[in-house]
Amino acid sequence: MSVHSPFITTAKPFLRALRGESIIPPPLWLMRQAGRYLPEYRHLRASGHSFLELCYSPELAAEVTLQPIRRYGFDAAILFSDILVVPDALGQSVTFHEGKGPTLERLKSKADVTRLSLEGFISSLAPIYKTVQSLAQNLSPTVALIGFAGAPWTVAAYMIEGGGSKNFFHAKLWSLGQGPMEQLMELLTEATIRHLLAQIAAGAEAVQVFDSWAGVLPESEFYRFVVKPMKNIVERIHKIYPNIPVIAYPRGAGVQYKVFVTETGVQAVSLDSSVPLMWAARHLQPHVTIQGNLDPLALCAGGEPMLKRVQRILDVLSHGPFIFNLGHGILPETPLEHVAELVKYIRLCGKTTGGECCLHQCG
Ligand code: CP3
Repeated sequence: MSVHSPFITTAKPFLRALRGESIIPPPLWLMRQAGRYLPEYRHLRASGHSFLELCYSPELAAEVTLQPIRRYGFDAAILFSDILVVPDALGQSVTFHEGKGPTLERLKSKADVTRLSLEGFISSLAPIYKTVQSLAQNLSPTVALIGFAGAPWTVAAYMIEGGGSKNFFHAKLWSLGQGPMEQLMELLTEATIRHLLAQIAAGAEAVQVFDSWAGVLPESEFYRFVVKPMKNIVERIHKIYPNIPVIAYPRGAGVQYKVFVTETGVQAVSLDSSVPLMWAARHLQPHVTIQGNLDPLALCAGGEPMLKRVQRILDVLSHGPFIFNLGHGILPETPLEHVAELVKYIRLCGKTTGGECCLHQCG
């Protein structure tokens, strides 16, 4: 956390936690907090806007970003956009089908990669930076604004597979030399850096890089295609913006979270729900701020099963720099009242740690 100047102070608990402070109760936001579990989002989608239209409309994207803040008062707003706007702006066609996920025109050859271009990349994404700018001007003084991008490996995987995949057959073959992986990774790393820098220039106060499919790679490919590009991204951002914290989410990295943290220079890692809490407190939290890691299914379940798990996360991780979050994105099926219950619990019971809080006294 040495990149952060000790002279910069902020009233935003989320940013203070990213600068290494232990804050009680911990700041809170949820991955995918803007989206289909919210009736106000579904209402806007039903009025005839496609998902990408929403992403590229500054007024609507700002509105969707703020919907969960208004309803629940989270400590950070994450820009409403998607990791796949990057391939879209590089010239690969991307479409989103309701309930089916994204479809991309699959990359099959070196010629397909060579056709992609950084020329006009930033101007295609200009509406997104306009959204960031208007959010930065209008957020309340205690709420931080997060910009984001997909990590090169995860975005490459969608580009090579033509969408989601069960086993990443083609992408993994490319990572083993059966496709122009180096060329694609180089292009995506540069595109990711430019996209993040433009969001920061427009007013994003922290950035998160989503490597949702990091966990499918074995050790040597994990190092080449997850750790190395992330290190490069952090270095380039800090060269220009030394005080902007970078959060990474190498989902499924397991014990490799440790090498990821020590090698990349990130300020925080977002943990998926499979990471054991005591292990994270011991091996990761001395180096970086921890974010996570309630199972999104526990939020769907609600009630005591959820609150027990929340309390354990608070007990183990609140002693160091910590931001409460889920281990993956909130599910569309999540009942609204469970999110309200979670927020209330963190605000009230997060004030005490070390097992002093019971499930009911604070409610
Ligand atoms: O609230 C927020 O978190 C901000 C916006 C955001 C979205 N996607 C909006 C979205 C963010 C940060 C993302 C990240 C993202 N997108 C990731 C990384 C995080 C993760 O969940 O692993 C990935 C892999 C994607 C790619 C993507 N976008 C998929 C696979 C899908 C379809 C499945 C799904 O989860 O809905 C999307 C669509 C998408 N992105 C929607 C939203 C609100 C739903 C679109 C709709 O139908 O209205």
